[in-house]
Amino acid sequence: MPITFRQVGPTLGAEVEGIDISKPLSKADAAAVHAGMDKYAVLVFREQKINDDQQLAFTQSLGDIEHAIGTSLRSDNDRLPTSFADVSNLDKDNKPFARDDRRRLFAIGNRLWHSDSSFKVVPAKYSLLHARSIPSKGGNTEFADMKAAYDALDEETKAQVEDLVCEHSQMFSRSKLGFVDFTDEERARFKPVLQRLVRTHPSGRKSLYLSSHAGTIIGWPVPEAKAFLMDLTEAATQREFVYTHKWRVGDLVMWDNRQTMHRARAFPAHEPRDVRRTTLMGDAPTVAQQAA
Ligand code: OGA
Ligand code: MN
Repeated sequence: MPITFRQVGPTLGAEVEGIDISKPLSKADAAAVHAGMDKYAVLVFREQKINDDQQLAFTQSLGDIEHAIGTSLRSDNDRLPTSFADVSNLDKDNKPFARDDRRRLFAIGNRLWHSDSSFKVVPAKYSLLHARSIPSKGGNTEFADMKAAYDALDEETKAQVEDLVCEHSQMFSRSKLGFVDFTDEERARFKPVLQRLVRTHPSGRKSLYLSSHAGTIIGWPVPEAKAFLMDLTEAATQREFVYTHKWRVGDLVMWDNRQTMHRARAFPAHEPRDVRRTTLMGDAPTVAQQAA
């Protein structure tokens, strides 16, 4: 069957047909998927009845896995191996977390616009999220096009942001929601890393590298930096740049973190939402040197 892409969002997002993701991809099919990602930034594969091993094998046929080690608060009691980021609201017994469970509250950080692993020195390339169960309402995922957002900036702002470098940490994103009770061990683990504010995608286009994890701009007073990043985020996430994914069980959605931001939307706390993410490692840091 030929591979087809049908655009579903305003400037990003396409539904893919003609690919069976229950098996590792051939080289030719993998090349077609990468080309589709370069063009659409978000790809949707509907009705994929796959298990963890199949999701992992499909992901690995596109590149090297980024492991979820030390990035969430789950590590004491993992439901999934580190080849997966457990984005569900479930504990090890597949029961929804209590409303005030610290792991749930930390994960609510995903409701802020972000790019995956921007808090790592080498941030993530693609994320692949598969829906095993979904709540009765809510729980959409929204994606914003950071290339279109960059292009829409006026020339003065483009010049202003060109060489700016930000500090990113999960402590910055969580503290925006009033989650601030980090242990000393977590403070050390979540130490900020540096990321450029403008990055150039291998396709040649520039994008704004924004994320809820960005907490300040090197050389700027903190309140001014935070206000500026909030303004940029507001401009970059206007509806004209956003594709909203309404989940069905079996959907696999793959996005390019280098050219998009995304956020989860709220859903009833007591209902299970089992979504599992595999992630592809990025190629390199976005800045030449990290601060000492
Ligand atoms: C993620 C994420 C959003 C969602 O998997 O990285 O942010 O809707 N998910 O679950
Ligand atoms: Mn995410």
